[in-house]
Amino acid sequence: MVDEQKPFVGNRGGMESYLVEPGGSLAGEIIVPGDKSISHRSLMFGAIADGITEIDGLLASEDCLATAAALTAMGAKIEAPEMAGDCWRVHGVGLRGLKRPPGNLDLGNSGTSMRLLTGLLCAQSFSSTLVGDSSLMARPMERVAVPLRLMGARIKTSDGRPPVMIERCQGLTGIDYQAPVASAQVKSAILLAGLYAKGVTRVTEPGVSRDHTERMLASFGVPVIRKGMTVEIEAPAALRAHRISVPGDLSSAAFFIVGACLASNKGVTLRNVGVNTTRTGVIEILRKMGAKIDVATAPTAKGGEPIADIRVARSRLKGIDIDASDVALAIDEFPVLMVAAACAEGVTRVSGAEELRVKESDRIRTVVDGLVALGAKVDEKPDGMIVTGGSLKGGVVDSHGDHRIAMAFTIAALMASGPVRVLNTRNIATSFPGFADHATRLGMAITQETLS
Ligand code: S3P
Repeated sequence: MVDEQKPFVGNRGGMESYLVEPGGSLAGEIIVPGDKSISHRSLMFGAIADGITEIDGLLASEDCLATAAALTAMGAKIEAPEMAGDCWRVHGVGLRGLKRPPGNLDLGNSGTSMRLLTGLLCAQSFSSTLVGDSSLMARPMERVAVPLRLMGARIKTSDGRPPVMIERCQGLTGIDYQAPVASAQVKSAILLAGLYAKGVTRVTEPGVSRDHTERMLASFGVPVIRKGMTVEIEAPAALRAHRISVPGDLSSAAFFIVGACLASNKGVTLRNVGVNTTRTGVIEILRKMGAKIDVATAPTAKGGEPIADIRVARSRLKGIDIDASDVALAIDEFPVLMVAAACAEGVTRVSGAEELRVKESDRIRTVVDGLVALGAKVDEKPDGMIVTGGSLKGGVVDSHGDHRIAMAFTIAALMASGPVRVLNTRNIATSFPGFADHATRLGMAITQETLS
């Protein structure tokens, strides 16, 4: 059973880091862990459904466990798999069955938990307060609070940031919202509130963002209408529990896809990866750079998500221009894409990517600093960067507690001329528990250290 509210934050006894040997190559097969976005949603929708939702392939990472613990604190019973099985069971309490949590809901490092739960909790008949670790407490929350207030929610933030204080709901009404940024978290928060609102709730986005919420709502029996860039729902009588298969996370696979492009003699195969087209920007961008990536699509997983086996061969990469239209579809993969750019031939120019500044770290700054530490030529821009491909040397890279920065620069060591020490690796567990073991099995040499 999932514990209520165990703490997720901080370094336990010293700073964890990796010492990664330079060079080498990747080879073999990997089954990457479950998709983080889909795992969060399956827990949340399962908790407010009627009946028991069985989830196989759920990502048991710290971020998803934060969501599970918050839902447990509000009365949903969530059972982890038995020793022999692979299936989580969420005992739904129904749309109106959540209970006031006994204290603040601590969501650790997880922006998805905080933003989506704000949408769900602003519709409840009890008040709640959402907090997180130092990174999450610095992230913008008005992007969800603003539209939810328009629906009638009563939400306070502290200068736009957490804690998010949500008052007991006095009724919500659907809105027709033109979102200023393409953000699946904003869209999903509004749709979650829309499950409780009078009338139609409609969100129009300026660009395509991941559509896992829409697909999963449909699989729980909620009609979702999509017209161009607009998605709309009406409050259903109930969500119907069912069995969900969570595909492997393409965002986690991306580290080894890039690694295999840069350094693999016999190629790498990644099995059972989610290839929803609102997520596959990373594959398109890498292909434009010259990557040899073969995607063999398999039948759609339960829950409505397409999956595939992905085969990657060593490739000669070249620099390209990446603009705003490519960004949302590969938003989480930029750290490792920029490592690829630093090892490519020629110049890669990224623009329209200012959203990267408000992720788990300011990813424009942390990527630029990391690449500079490894001797790459890179210019920081307000909305992106210009990376001139060349060679990498060894060095020390601080991830600033950002899981994807830590993993991207671990992969960079494959192309470095000296060892790479990656500082602050603990938060890799927020999205990819077992990352270092997978990397080692595929051929990397990583020593896990705790620095005092
Ligand atoms: C997510 C959406 C993305 C992504 C995040 C997960 C989701 O954020 O960066 O890691 O699960 O909805 P935005 O939608 O804010 O861009």
